Amino acid sequence: MVMKRKKIKSLIESGAIGSQVKVSGWVRSFRNDRFIAINDGSCIKTMQIVIESEKLSPNLLTQITVGSAVTVSGQVVESQGRGQTIEIHADDIQVIGHAETEAVSKTILQPKRHSLETLREQAHLRFRTNTFGAVFRIRHHLAFAIHKFFNDRGFFYLHAPIITGSDAEGAGEMFKVTSMDLKSIPKNDVGEVDFSEDFFGKETHLTVSGQLEAELGALGLGQVYTFGPTFRAENSNTSRHLAEFWMIEPEIAFADLEDDMDLGEEFLKYCVEYILQNCKEDIEFLENRSVQEDKGKPQAERNELTLTERMGLIVNNQFERITYTKAIEVLENSKPYKKKKFKFPIEWGKDLASEHERYLVEKHYKKPVIIYNYPASIKAFYMRNNDDNKTVAAMDVLFPGIGEIIGGSQREERLDVLKQKCMEFDIPEEHVWWYLETRKFGTVPHAGFGLGFERLVMFCTGMTNIRDVIPFPRTPKNAEF
Ligand code: 4AD
Ligand code: MG
Repeated sequence: MVMKRKKIKSLIESGAIGSQVKVSGWVRSFRNDRFIAINDGSCIKTMQIVIESEKLSPNLLTQITVGSAVTVSGQVVESQGRGQTIEIHADDIQVIGHAETEAVSKTILQPKRHSLETLREQAHLRFRTNTFGAVFRIRHHLAFAIHKFFNDRGFFYLHAPIITGSDAEGAGEMFKVTSMDLKSIPKNDVGEVDFSEDFFGKETHLTVSGQLEAELGALGLGQVYTFGPTFRAENSNTSRHLAEFWMIEPEIAFADLEDDMDLGEEFLKYCVEYILQNCKEDIEFLENRSVQEDKGKPQAERNELTLTERMGLIVNNQFERITYTKAIEVLENSKPYKKKKFKFPIEWGKDLASEHERYLVEKHYKKPVIIYNYPASIKAFYMRNNDDNKTVAAMDVLFPGIGEIIGGSQREERLDVLKQKCMEFDIPEEHVWWYLETRKFGTVPHAGFGLGFERLVMFCTGMTNIRDVIPFPRTPKNAEF
């Protein structure tokens, strides 16, 4: 009978002492010609393989090197050694893919501490490291939790298009999509690019948000969410921005801003709690990792709380909800403001800088903060005007260490007001005619938000650079791999 391969995770969980098993994985270490530690990615732990080297041919022995892929058959035995409860006494070992020691020594597969920068340069190999194994397992579980959260509450998963003709956020930071020959671009009489000659017969881009399409879905299906890649060509090389990132955008009909904030808070608590419950080993590893990392930093930059404590802050607190106007007041009365410690100005009508947001969350309230009712002039055209004619029913959720994690709003459902806003924002009605139409036929109050998936992964892993929580980061001047 051919034995089926077992995952290391399930072997450790089931104990299975005495049984004959087969496992496959990559060699992490090989000591004394006798102990091999292999990892198969199913969990952070390695399985110790014990071999009788006399039984193996000397040739095979030289093939078992760090980085090599092996398949081992043997018996599960209670381990006498420290660091593991079970081990496998090997009857047979096959080297599936050999790794040259000389070549391995030049890569991050060499078992020692590598900087995150070095790991990023070898993004094709970083899945083999403990840190990135943990990060990407948590990323997976978060994605699953998100689908589960919405499915359990009767939301439908809507696939918004990736290629679009509209600029939802109006920020103009879009990547162009074209099949035109860039060496001979068709021009019209007045010398402008003739997009009627292009693939779609009009100007198109990679989407910055699936929201407008999600609204159409919600205004028929009731509650929907998108979960897909979004693209922004902003040239900001920060630790919190990507040119390609994943966004989750729920949209709910018959709902106002308060319903939106309630949903956002419940959703974030659910996701963080899910990771605390389901990713204990990986969290523990990453927590220790960030404690080690902190030791090398100046006191002021160290985390006051551990990763699990920070996650607990989300789960166990009611988020503070304050208006934008109140936020400005708090900031104007703050110590750093009075001592001129803030780099950016604080003034009603201006966007809050990340230093301001972090002050509110980390120093003043010491818990997540939702800021709502922002000045209309700094927010998008689709947000619902408040009666004061100055602010819109917008909300941002701010997290410790991250800043803005969610941005959302109640939508302008009144056709005349929306048309007026299109005019104010210079959006030609013919570009969004299909969006405006929904306000003609049974329009209803509705609301939604966008969660930056990578920012949530950063929060739940303690990683401080967004490039380290997406498998293949795209940032200015960087689309390797
Ligand atoms: O605040 P934003 O721009 O909101 C929207 O796009 C709305 N259409 C959402 C909606 O109401 N349906 O983006 C939403 C979130 C931000 O709060 C942030 O977490 C994340 O997306 N985000 C980015 N994440 C990584 N890299 C970037 N360049 C990001 N830009 C926004
Ligand atoms: Mg925003």
